[in-house]
Amino acid sequence: MSGTDGEIQVKLKVNGRMREVRVKPNERLIDTLREKLGLKSVKMGCLTGECGTCTVLYNGQPVKSCLVLTAEADGKEVITVEGLAGSDEMRRITEVFARNNAFQCGFCTPAFVLLAYWLMKVKPKATDEEILEASNSILCRCTGYTQILQALKEAISRV
Ligand code: FES
Ligand code: FES
Repeated sequence: MSGTDGEIQVKLKVNGRMREVRVKPNERLIDTLREKLGLKSVKMGCLTGECGTCTVLYNGQPVKSCLVLTAEADGKEVITVEGLAGSDEMRRITEVFARNNAFQCGFCTPAFVLLAYWLMKVKPKATDEEILEASNSILCRCTGYTQILQALKEAISRV
């Protein structure tokens, strides 16, 4: 709903909780999540859709939040890493990432953690090629990917 100040009232579910925010029509979802809702795990990288560090789960799919307007997110569901805290999945992901040294500076890690969670939930039988393809949307400038890909494989492995 648009007010006299040109702002729009948007209602969305974030990490399991209904939230209402007032935003300008051109406000990006990444800015709403970080600045209005305090979800700093959503990393601000290129802001042009290249690096993937702003990835969130948006209606269950990995999406770059710098490419989504918050106004478009009305009625949608968003999950960030904060929403995984305390879950069994998060414990497993943390363990495999740590065991494989799958991070250095950690800037890309929240996005890869969400990708691991998505693979566990949606593509638990993903092949190595499918994991590689899914991870192509997120850039890591530190690790060289081998450890990250191994951690993603182990996250969905039941062995
Ligand atoms: S910050 Fe969104 S893709 Fe880089
Ligand atoms: S660990 Fe530094 S960008 Fe990936």
